[in-house]
Amino acid sequence: MVAIKASRAFTNRPKIAKVEGAYHGVYDYAEVSQAPRPETWGSIDRPESVPLVHGTPASALGDVVIIPFNDPERAIAILDRHADDLACVLLDLMPHRVGLKPADPDFVTVIREWATRNGSLLVLDEVITFRTEHGGLQSRYDVTPDLTAIGKMIGGGFPVGAVVGRSEVMEVLNPRAKRVLFPHSGTFSANPISTTAGLVAMELFDEAAVARLNALADRAMKGIEAAIAESGVPACVTGGGSMFRVHMKPQPPRNFRESYLTPEENIRLKALLEHMFAEGFILINTCSATLSTPMTESEIDQLVAAFGRGFEKMAAGV
Ligand SMILES: Cc1ncc(COP(=O)(O)O)c(C=O)c1O
Repeated sequence: MVAIKASRAFTNRPKIAKVEGAYHGVYDYAEVSQAPRPETWGSIDRPESVPLVHGTPASALGDVVIIPFNDPERAIAILDRHADDLACVLLDLMPHRVGLKPADPDFVTVIREWATRNGSLLVLDEVITFRTEHGGLQSRYDVTPDLTAIGKMIGGGFPVGAVVGRSEVMEVLNPRAKRVLFPHSGTFSANPISTTAGLVAMELFDEAAVARLNALADRAMKGIEAAIAESGVPACVTGGGSMFRVHMKPQPPRNFRESYLTPEENIRLKALLEHMFAEGFILINTCSATLSTPMTESEIDQLVAAFGRGFEKMAAGV
């Protein structure tokens, strides 16, 4: 929310663009088209701005432009139609609900160049992807965003969110400025417990810790892929860094529409989640996982074995 508002304050433009299906929090504008359905999402060349919450004002929908993930041509054609009004393009480099597949470097470059050319900002949402590399997932790309949103793990388990970026843009929040374009405060601002816990967590989550956790996720993904192959069920795994997601689809989905579950896939996913729960693993309803530093190979191997038994049951039609 703060990154979107800062973008508007800096550019004095009303609209934002975001990827169809991407989750960026509970701000009205951020949640537009977070969960559209085939009957509401419209044409892929002109995706509809679909409300998530009953009662979302039409004005909010009108100020959010929806682009498809990893589809540079279509995305640019859509952005071009709103070029003078867009404060920012909001992008998660590996959006969980879009399929947890890393963005293609070309897609990111094209969006970055478009934003620069058109006086719009590029805002990267690294609220969950920051864990992927010591410098965030963006360090794997040849990209410099104008703003980055981070949160979750940077609080070491305590509630926190932060926006960082180009000083010229951050200046809109400067409380010492003669005229503050974006005055900001709130219950969670400057919380000493969150910032202390976050500082310690960030000191401990050094390059070695990131590499160790990523290697564990790699082990999990390879193990789950092998279990899928052995069982022969139509499923696959996507992810990167220390996160992964299991799809009830034979091929990794490339965007939100491809990752959308058919009723039959939904039944199989629910059965797998229930099986995992019975085995002692609670997974989010998308069947995604984010590993944490206390984990070791032992927990990962137990997780993979539980998935394996789940796929076997599925193959046997149990
Ligand atoms: C990718 C992503 N972006 C944004 C958010 C929202 O963060 P906050 O609740 O701090 O606004 C979340 C939180 O779940 C998230 O996962």
